[in-house]
Amino acid sequence: MLASGKAHSSEKRSDMGTTKLTIAMNGVTGRMGYRQHLLRSILPLREEGLTLADGTRVEVEPILVGRRPETLAALAKQHGIARWETDLAAVLADPQVDIYFDAQVTSQRKAALTAAMQAGKHVFTEKPTAETLEEAVELERVRAAAGVTAGVVHDKLYLPGLVKLRRLVEEGFFGRILSLRGEFGYWVFEGDHQPAQRPSWNYRKQDGGGMTIDMFCHWNYVMEGIIGKVEAVTAKAVTHIPTRWDEQGQPYEATADDAAYGIFELRTPQGDPVIAQINSSWAVRVHRDELVEFQIDGTHGSAVAGLFSCVAQQRAHTPKPVWNPDIPTTERFREQWLDVPANADLTNGFRAQWEEFLSDVVTGRPHRYDLLSAARGVQLAENGLKSSAEGRRIEMEALQA
Ligand SMILES: NC(=O)c1ccc[n+]([C@@H]2O[C@H](COP(=O)([O-])OP(=O)(O)OC[C@H]3O[C@@H](n4cnc5c(N)ncnc54)[C@H](O)[C@@H]3O)[C@@H](O)[C@H]2O)c1
Repeated sequence: MLASGKAHSSEKRSDMGTTKLTIAMNGVTGRMGYRQHLLRSILPLREEGLTLADGTRVEVEPILVGRRPETLAALAKQHGIARWETDLAAVLADPQVDIYFDAQVTSQRKAALTAAMQAGKHVFTEKPTAETLEEAVELERVRAAAGVTAGVVHDKLYLPGLVKLRRLVEEGFFGRILSLRGEFGYWVFEGDHQPAQRPSWNYRKQDGGGMTIDMFCHWNYVMEGIIGKVEAVTAKAVTHIPTRWDEQGQPYEATADDAAYGIFELRTPQGDPVIAQINSSWAVRVHRDELVEFQIDGTHGSAVAGLFSCVAQQRAHTPKPVWNPDIPTTERFREQWLDVPANADLTNGFRAQWEEFLSDVVTGRPHRYDLLSAARGVQLAENGLKSSAEGRRIEMEALQA
């Protein structure tokens, strides 16, 4: 039996233990929508289906939604997708559509998600859910009134490295957690001599771009999901590279921040304070094993996790370096850590969350990474920018819809 929103007809689709879900996917010509959601999540799921814990089979069928008919038609043909549409309102009015997915540019998201939920569709969406905290919270009100299930991409928590890190926290490996340190970033080319490897709107504030708005919503759920809620933020957001070149090779003013340096005060569920410090930059060169790395230090042990790997060092194996600038360092610090095994089949994080969301929709459960969690991410980004502009520490207020 398919759980559905108030306005949504559920006369279909539970048949001999098989539930079919039609997913309208908007923004699939973009980087995230195409690669992570269509190519690596929904198309493999369409091939393989999904079997829930109670044995129910779930089958999915995408409809491509977007603005450019030629691009959509070509994409649909390439992947054997029967239907594509440029009229979002018509798609949302179709009772065959169960789920609306949004990976458009951020500025278009709030209106589309609102229309979808009001049409009784369950929604799964990229982050940030909205450009302002007020709008992000408003989305949860719309969802509650429509009675639909909403999920927001929290992909980093499904990454093998962070799954291992979270497991170490849950197993009590660290003792009392003291701090978290995160390094994220890489050099994004300006676009003049070599094309930029990210879309130009990312560097224009007026188009919803900016490092803080982009990454603090990720860092919020990473910190919340692994250690505890963020209670306060102190941040500095800067634009290191003031001029960039767009997809047409034209110079433009980079009005958004391309780096954000943040200090976050967290509290564990046990009530312990933890200091987190995360650097995020598109103007940094990588001398790390992965493009993002997090280190947690605790009284009994420490661990460093990237997207895939995680290494740990116990108290009993902790060396005792002595500071002496007169003697060259001979200790091989990196070799003093042990690999943390996956002990499970940890595959693509985007697909893993899709599978969880689809099973929530079918069973009528709320998805654990919901619109309010996403709103807390938007709140952290807003407060980070405010902290930077005003040069002061900002406390996070508890949110409710
Ligand atoms: N979860 C993650 O790790 C992650 C990473 C990067 C981006 N994102 C989010 O995904 C969303 C898409 O980012 P992207 O990097 O794929 O961007 P992109 O520019 O590659 O794709 C944007 C998509 O939106 C469509 N679109 C709709 N209305 C538009 C408009 N008015 N102007 C321009 N494009 C419009 C484009 O056609 C395209 O399909 C953003 O909200 C971004 O914050 C998430």
